[in-house]
Amino acid sequence: MGTPVKIDAVPVVTSAEADAWHEVVSASMAEDLPGVPPPTRAQAHAGLTGPWLGSRLLTWLAFADDDRGGGRAVGAATLRLFDRRGQEHLAEVNLHVRPDARRRGTGTRLLAAVLAAAESEERRSLIAEAPAGTAADLYCVRHGFRRALTLHHLLLPLSEEHRGRLEGLAGTEHPGYRTAEWTGTVPDALADSFAAAKNAMHDMPIGDLDHGSLTWDAERVRAMAAVVAERGDTLLTVAAVHGDGTAGIAGYTEIVIPGGTAARALQYDTAVVPAHRGHGLGVWLKARMLRRLLDEHPQVTEVETDNAAENTHMLAVNERLGFRPLRTTYEYQLSLAEREQRA
Ligand SMILES: CC(C)(COP(=O)(O)OP(=O)(O)OC[C@H]1O[C@@H](n2cnc3c(N)ncnc32)[C@H](O)[C@@H]1OP(=O)(O)O)[C@@H](O)C(=O)NCCC(=O)NCCS
Repeated sequence: MGTPVKIDAVPVVTSAEADAWHEVVSASMAEDLPGVPPPTRAQAHAGLTGPWLGSRLLTWLAFADDDRGGGRAVGAATLRLFDRRGQEHLAEVNLHVRPDARRRGTGTRLLAAVLAAAESEERRSLIAEAPAGTAADLYCVRHGFRRALTLHHLLLPLSEEHRGRLEGLAGTEHPGYRTAEWTGTVPDALADSFAAAKNAMHDMPIGDLDHGSLTWDAERVRAMAAVVAERGDTLLTVAAVHGDGTAGIAGYTEIVIPGGTAARALQYDTAVVPAHRGHGLGVWLKARMLRRLLDEHPQVTEVETDNAAENTHMLAVNERLGFRPLRTTYEYQLSLAEREQRA
């Protein structure tokens, strides 16, 4: 056994504690996810202190006993407790140990603290994401998590040389549909219809994940945009609007640019309402969004997305747009109810 560790719950994250978390996570990501940009200090701080939409975050830091004086953290964990109706059973753990401090039981000690909190919050399911073929993958299995979903992460290089191909896809006629674009909060006239379209994400394949389901309304949609803005990120939306007058949203795609200036943009939702599927709206909307990035955010040189392995339709859409495989992660799930029964 290595050096004993001390696990500290961090009820209110100070700037020094956010720095400690950031250092641990950056070192850990460099080991397991080379090439994936770690969060900046500012993003780490904002991510730990909130505000969040429909969830709360608990934080722990692990210190090696002999390093306590120097304040060097060797591990860090967060537990996101979802509070929204339909997801009160769920919590998500994110746990990192510095590469030079691994295999000494720190991860296990951190998880024990996380599990105790999840149980006292009466959560039924704990989920965690682990990159395929890494220590985390083996660690999750060792701790009784079950693999519930395989996610393929894809990356699209974006530059002026792609414009011609994108124009071809973005410029296709879709009779009966027009596009609406906005930055940040949805325009009032489209808010209810946008919330209804967001509910179309409910049939997205999520494997065996006990994820629950949320219902969107205009207020929630606005609150989500406010949270993204408060983090300093830019949220772009392109929607397909069907018909005239009191037209409804038939589909939409969302991109987030971390810090508003990052080179790697992140794909958020893309959804087409069931009644409007089969008309090529998904490719059309995504191509228009990529063209918009070229026009309005030329510093964006790549876009990352992830799709469930069984979401063959969206994987095909993304392949057509030029996305290429980047890495695979697994969503693991631990049933706390089963664990209790076994105890
Ligand atoms: C996953 C992680 C937190 C484990 O931290 P750790 O302090 O090394 O974990 P522990 O020492 O408590 O390991 C517990 C058990 O997990 C398994 N395990 C952990 N790392 C392993 C590895 N590299 N190879 C094989 N088994 C491993 C072993 O069964 C180990 O027990 P053992 O050492 O007695 O054999 C760490 O590897 C990490 O930070 N990974 C990157 C972050 C990440 O992807 N987190 C996502 C999960 S939420």
